[in-house]
Amino acid sequence: MRYKTSTFQKAHLKLTVLFFTILITNLLACKSSMEEDLQPVDEQSSETVLAARDLDETAEKGSYHLKGYTLKDVFDFPIGAAVVYERLNQPLYANTLKREFSRVSSESNFKFKYLQPEEGKYDWEKADGIVDFALKNNMKVHGHTLLWANDGTYPAWLRNKEGSPEVFDKIMKDHITTVLRHFKGKIQSWDVINESLTPDGKYVDNLFLRKLGPDYIYKAFKYAREADPSVKLFINDFSLEYAGKKLKRYLAMSDELAERGVKIDGIAFQMHAVLRIAMPLVEKSLKMAGDKGLLVYLSEFDVALRYNMPKVFPLTDLLSRQQGQKYKEIVKAYLDNVPKRQQWGITTWGVGDKDSYFNKGYVNFNHDHPLLFGVDYKAKWAYRGFIEAGLGRQNKITLD
Ligand code: G3I
Repeated sequence: MRYKTSTFQKAHLKLTVLFFTILITNLLACKSSMEEDLQPVDEQSSETVLAARDLDETAEKGSYHLKGYTLKDVFDFPIGAAVVYERLNQPLYANTLKREFSRVSSESNFKFKYLQPEEGKYDWEKADGIVDFALKNNMKVHGHTLLWANDGTYPAWLRNKEGSPEVFDKIMKDHITTVLRHFKGKIQSWDVINESLTPDGKYVDNLFLRKLGPDYIYKAFKYAREADPSVKLFINDFSLEYAGKKLKRYLAMSDELAERGVKIDGIAFQMHAVLRIAMPLVEKSLKMAGDKGLLVYLSEFDVALRYNMPKVFPLTDLLSRQQGQKYKEIVKAYLDNVPKRQQWGITTWGVGDKDSYFNKGYVNFNHDHPLLFGVDYKAKWAYRGFIEAGLGRQNKITLD
């Protein structure tokens, strides 16, 4: 009995050791492949998408530019950045834009209150300056935004205006028509309405909703379509990547408007992402939008790191690598889940970290490091993750 038990115990022990050996080997392999993805490239590394010779030898230390590759060359669709007019004459900013990007959007300069600061008087100077910069540099332009469902984004004259629904209908129609005609042939796509639904899929309160009812969205698209039949018209909103009620309601709305003869061309996911966002939800949301047949655009992409952080915090190497990984995953999710012909492109909300809306000292905005380029415009791991997603997908570089 003792003999039998001991044989059994030995066999059991051997099996247990074997089991744990396999488990540990697998775990190590998995860990090393995850780490490898974001290892700095060196001659020893054989598993990364790119080899050491692909690094731009002229790049400064700490920069992840790649020899012979730029963002705009790697992707088949435009890669954009939201710009601020005043920064276009800063050489590092402008050169980074010209080298890496093929589309611009604007953080503020196309918004209602800046284009029509006084009733009936339009100020085109800054918006035109951005469009000129784009045309000179062979870039496309996305217009942001004709309307924003938030009273604070309208000029004081409009906020204080009194009058019948017809008065507000005319104001909205005039603004949309004037702006679209002004930029006709120069701007290829527009956000018609920004942030018009709550997370629950209800209408966000704003003066056009109060005056015209929910039909103001239908009307805005109708007037935009009439003013420029060739321009692509988008709904733009945040948190669509959580596959929640908001996204579902927009997708239903696109059917409802189509039945009434007004077409929404595309849905723009702002994609103000955070490090901890779960990728299955992102993938599901992009697929839902793609399945609807709409153009899908990542319109304000950035990856914030500030969750659980002090108000001001440094960008550590670890955080930077984690951010690179997240950029890579989200870009890959876009490539994998949106049919190619519906990929309108990806635009980041700024160029370098110091340009980010988080860091401009505006009220209610916290500090962060959310973009592809650092404060010095050196390419971060974020850039590297973004570009690797494109290179991996298109297999333009032979794996060593
Ligand atoms: O131009 C004035 C300046 O004269 C004044 O001295 C200064 C004082 O704070 O304010 C300047 O205006 C600022 C404006 O940006 C300049 O472009 C506003 O305060 C500031 O609130 C405004 O912030 C913009 C914000 O939208 C509100 O319009 C951000 O730059 C812009 O990045 C942000 O973008 C939004 C998208 O439109 C929609 N999705 C979310 C995204 C981030 O919040």
